[in-house]
Amino acid sequence: MKKKAKKLKRRPPAPRTTATVKTQGGRQLPSASKAWSGRLPATDPAVEQFTASLPVDRRLFKHDITGSIAHCQALHEAGLLSEQEAEQIRAGLSAIEEEIGGGRFPFVPGDEDIHMAIERRLTELIGPVGGKLHTGRSRNDQVTLDLRLYLRDELGALVKTARQFQQVLLEQARRNLDVAMPGYTHLQRAQPVLFSHHLLAYVEMAERDKGRVRDLLARLDEMPLGSGALAGTNYPVDRAYVAQLLGFSGVTQNSLDAVSDRDFVIEALAALAILIMHLSRLSEELILWSSQEFRFVELPDAFCTGSSMMPQKKNPDVPELVRGKTGRVYGHLMAMLTTLKGLPLTYNRDLQEDKEALFDAVDQVSDSLDILTKVVQGLTVNRETLGKAAGAGYILATELADYLTGKGIPFREAHAITGRLVRWCLDRKKDLRDLTLVDMRGISTKFEKDALDVLTVEGAIERRSQIGGTARKRVEARLKALEKVLA
Ligand code: ARG
Repeated sequence: MKKKAKKLKRRPPAPRTTATVKTQGGRQLPSASKAWSGRLPATDPAVEQFTASLPVDRRLFKHDITGSIAHCQALHEAGLLSEQEAEQIRAGLSAIEEEIGGGRFPFVPGDEDIHMAIERRLTELIGPVGGKLHTGRSRNDQVTLDLRLYLRDELGALVKTARQFQQVLLEQARRNLDVAMPGYTHLQRAQPVLFSHHLLAYVEMAERDKGRVRDLLARLDEMPLGSGALAGTNYPVDRAYVAQLLGFSGVTQNSLDAVSDRDFVIEALAALAILIMHLSRLSEELILWSSQEFRFVELPDAFCTGSSMMPQKKNPDVPELVRGKTGRVYGHLMAMLTTLKGLPLTYNRDLQEDKEALFDAVDQVSDSLDILTKVVQGLTVNRETLGKAAGAGYILATELADYLTGKGIPFREAHAITGRLVRWCLDRKKDLRDLTLVDMRGISTKFEKDALDVLTVEGAIERRSQIGGTARKRVEARLKALEKVLA
């Protein structure tokens, strides 16, 4: 016993069980007999352990039971279960749901996955009639149904979390509407923009992220039960009725496809990968912005960690970890694409690997969204530092080029003249805003008195007034529109 327990220690935690399990009443339960014990009498324990997915898929228990109750109802409607039998099965399934939810479910070795565990327990609780539930169903259509139900719930919740994230960004954008900052390309100061414009960029990304999730949810909105193991079912179960009971808009149209399709898992992973990529980019900015080199923002103390050695440190571990987890989520996407690429139709056991990847991706992305929302909420914006930076570093050079273009000079030439002017300033350690008209005219006589007027951050921002630009009225309008959409 002791030796075995030690050996099992290396395995993932969760419901590893010993050879006999005591129920609450103290009754000894035998190792579960296999569904295929007619054909194959004994399975090597090493195989049981290797093939088991219970530690991972037990989290599907609610969805599995929801699916089973609908299936049971359909079997009854088809005359395959009497009212009394259906009632017994329903009651048994509800009891099991409570047992698992309450951590009282007696798992036994040989409970290969959550589907088998529930079916075994059902028969234990209500007798042989429990064995009727699997009529016209295979784990192959059952597991894909469960996954669809799971994704519907989890991604629905994720969309809500994403909305909260957006709302917090909107709040910060509204609070800081008058703050300018340097906009960057190549991480070099490029043109001044409103800080709110920058934040709203992430709201737009999240809007697309939610759209991607909605798209994939619409595509997975087909009910697969009735596909059987692969060929379909010979029982007169009304598939459309099952779909209706489970809230699907339709049923899958090809049984072979239905049991081997994991497109929706890949789509979910892809949507999650893109979403966390956006979070990772924001994280990177928060890390940079909160550094002493930038000092654009101050992260909330409670969301930073210190160093065990350097007393002065305040580290941005949360955004760093979000950035780090992004690689892990990409890995899950790659893993699933790779798992699927060589699989002949239809179900192959390889597919069981889908859940660990999917569940972890969902968990990591949900957690990341959640915590980054709190970080953004607690962010202090150093308006002054941002404002100062917004005008420094020759960031207004484009204004001068545009000014010359306004005087009828081709933009390319205007660009070159301004470039020479910047060079001239650099050589003399001057800023553009220190220039006099005489300095300017030394480079080009096209500069006139009004040239000095364009060298303001506000002007540079206000002139970008087309839809999508950083002009205050545009940013405010978009902010308002997004607030409305998200309200
Ligand atoms: N645990 C399996 C999975 O997650 C369930 C389906 C098993 N089907 C089979 N034919 N062995 O994929």
